Amino acid sequence: MSAPAAIPNLQIEPQRLWDSLMATAKIGATAKGGIKRLTLSDEDKRVRDWFRSQCEALGCTLGVDEVGNMFATRAGRLDLPPICIGSHLDTQPTGGKFDGVLGVLGGLELLRTLHASEYQTNAPIMLVNWTNEEGSRFSPAMLASGVFAGVFTPDYAFTREDRDGHSFGDELKRIGYRGDEKPGARQIGAMFELHIEQGPILEAEGKMIGIVTGVQGIRWFEVTVAGQDAHTGATPMRLRKNALLGAARMIDAVDEIALAHAPDAVGTVGLIENHPNSRNVVPGEVFFCVDFRHPEDPVLDAMEDEFRAALRGVLEPLKLTFEEKRIWNSPAVKFAPELIECVEAGARKCGYRSRKMVSGAGHDAAYIARVAPTTMIFVPCAGGRSHNELESTSFDECGAGAQVLLEAVLEYDKRFAG
Ligand code: GLV
Ligand code: MN
Ligand code: MN
Repeated sequence: MSAPAAIPNLQIEPQRLWDSLMATAKIGATAKGGIKRLTLSDEDKRVRDWFRSQCEALGCTLGVDEVGNMFATRAGRLDLPPICIGSHLDTQPTGGKFDGVLGVLGGLELLRTLHASEYQTNAPIMLVNWTNEEGSRFSPAMLASGVFAGVFTPDYAFTREDRDGHSFGDELKRIGYRGDEKPGARQIGAMFELHIEQGPILEAEGKMIGIVTGVQGIRWFEVTVAGQDAHTGATPMRLRKNALLGAARMIDAVDEIALAHAPDAVGTVGLIENHPNSRNVVPGEVFFCVDFRHPEDPVLDAMEDEFRAALRGVLEPLKLTFEEKRIWNSPAVKFAPELIECVEAGARKCGYRSRKMVSGAGHDAAYIARVAPTTMIFVPCAGGRSHNELESTSFDECGAGAQVLLEAVLEYDKRFAG
């Protein structure tokens, strides 16, 4: 069979993509129009089953690895490591309809377009649904792409527990998605991940496409503050060991540390558990999680030092003790220039206004970049809102992202012609 000589004028079908986005949004739909589809929940199983059947209907072969990553492969003309596309189908507890889902369903639309036109690429194309990108139910985020890339061992993943004590390994088996393939055993030739921006820049500048040059560094910490349960009426203020007061001052300190490294640093306490959480008990124990991000790792080193100093400086005068652990360090990532050029060429061909940008959010692409040349394509989301049930990306923006994904993949595939 001869090699495709030039990139054909294939067009994705935006309506078909939109219909799939809206159909899967019913799996775990929330009252406010978002999705709650936590990793390895019953809803995650349902969307996985749907994904499997759609890929098989296109004649793709489906593989599942030991940590539940799903790989749907459409054969190419040559037996090469595949060009990988895809993202994640899990969501935050109050997630939107597009975070992750657009990358998987945009990839599915790409496969459907190739299938409908019977177009044969040179390299195989592999669509992936990565397990537990969000890190909301099981920390850290990007867990299974991390296992694939050799950052974490499978055992580390299996033993991660949610806040109710259910393990990742048990839940994976329960929903029937613990596959038999060794994570990382299959090769990836290159990876393009389509995603919504999750920030306000593209919308503010009236640009349709973000050409993503890298992902900022992320560090997560878990802190347990210990004081003493006491009666709220009978315990004088000076005798208290109020763990929640300590945590409140630490939340403020985290904010100050991020502001001190403006404009690029961010710092958040997004999870807090207060014990015993009774209105007439001075809280004796608090657990909270800290998320720091910055595009430069040395700045994150400084923020980490300042955070440790704040723990001592804030908690010790309140007669509180604490345990602190850094549970995740995802260093800043720079994406592959040769793939970035393909995305630029794709956006240009479609006539979309675009700009280069660094991702504020973490993505599976950040780990896959360790084992294969990788980049990402962003499209806008209204008001920059994400990790929010009201997250909104328009019909046209979703279609534009999928079309540029197709163009970029075909542009990259050209190198194998002849
Ligand atoms: C993943 O969604 C992250 O950026 O935390
Ligand atoms: Mn995502
Ligand atoms: Mn997310």
